[in-house]
Amino acid sequence: MADHAFGGIKIRHLFKIFGPNAKSHVESVQNGMTKAELNQKHAHVLGLRDINIEMPSGSIQVIMGLSGSGKSTLIRHINRLIDPTAGEVLVDGVDVVKMDETELRKFRRHQTAMVFQKFALLPHRNVLDNTLFGLEVQGVERTKAVDVAMRWLERVGLKGYEEKYPNQLSGGMQQRVGLARALSNDAPVLLMDEAYSALDPLIRTDMQTVLLDIQREIKKTIVFITHDLDEALRLGDQIAILRDGQVIQQGSSQDIVLRPADEYVANFVREVNRGRVVQVNAIMRPLRPGAAVSGVTLDATTTVEEAVRLLASVPDGDVTVIAKGSLPVGVVTFRQLASAMVSDCTPTHEDAIALVQ
Ligand SMILES: Nc1ncnc2c1ncn2[C@@H]1O[C@H](COP(=O)(O)OP(=O)(O)O)[C@@H](O)[C@H]1O
Ligand SMILES: [Mg+2]
Repeated sequence: MADHAFGGIKIRHLFKIFGPNAKSHVESVQNGMTKAELNQKHAHVLGLRDINIEMPSGSIQVIMGLSGSGKSTLIRHINRLIDPTAGEVLVDGVDVVKMDETELRKFRRHQTAMVFQKFALLPHRNVLDNTLFGLEVQGVERTKAVDVAMRWLERVGLKGYEEKYPNQLSGGMQQRVGLARALSNDAPVLLMDEAYSALDPLIRTDMQTVLLDIQREIKKTIVFITHDLDEALRLGDQIAILRDGQVIQQGSSQDIVLRPADEYVANFVREVNRGRVVQVNAIMRPLRPGAAVSGVTLDATTTVEEAVRLLASVPDGDVTVIAKGSLPVGVVTFRQLASAMVSDCTPTHEDAIALVQ
């Protein structure tokens, strides 16, 4: 195992076929056999086809897709709850697929933590003892384990609830315990499979905020699965969209909203509040370096919605200079900002960059 664990994950050419003779069908699938064909001809289920994703250490990778698209199958390969039919899963450069049982046990305990949709709390243990469960399994001394658990319980907003039992808590609070338990492990990789999907919308948004706040501090590699696009766009530094076991698009929130790869993604994106995702840099008219500018400035990464809010109170705020760092890179009008909230906005970021170069 690598000396320094930072939690960068690389998934390479990963295939998963469910069925008794999975290996014997890999080649056909690699050569293009469809999920339907594999099912009809050989009664095997294609779970994942040629997944390639690089998840940088310290970032939130969202995996999104409809039910049955392969999200759980994919995340379960990362701590090898599922063995692949072919491919590599590298965590800090070490292939999880090749680990023997002892290595795998050590890897699961120290390098990964999971948060489940159904909380998976032990009913006969109180909040504190649920939270320190992982540390107890690792053999961490009780006083130290209590210290760590108390710190995370406080951080997720559960100070004072240590003695309660899971059935005395709401769903949102139980999920906070699940998160505190996972964070207490201090593993570099945090795996969250639809962790928030069972929560009511307002509580769900709260929990997203808790996660984003904590992530700013802890900078784990978080793999977050959801079938909800708003959640994906809010949380994901990177998003991968799955359909029928295949990645059909990877990119930032803005990439996905502005340039959906196909009709499937476009359908997801249609109802999105664009103003919260699209940044000013995607709609500005680029300026040549050194161009003379004046007026109000906005940071290039400001969202359109935020820009509209900021400019609404600025008198005569029609033309605005966009500064990246301190360099002017473009201008945008209030009208462009307003129209970007309701429609596709061009030029795209890449077009804009190309124009200034
Ligand atoms: N153990 C299994 N045996 C056979 N098929 C499976 C198994 N696990 C998952 N699948 C199939 O793999 C596909 C992806 O499932 P899953 O990863 O659970 O999707 P998601 O989490 O996106 O809802 C589905 O077609 C599902 O029926
Ligand atoms: Mg699932």
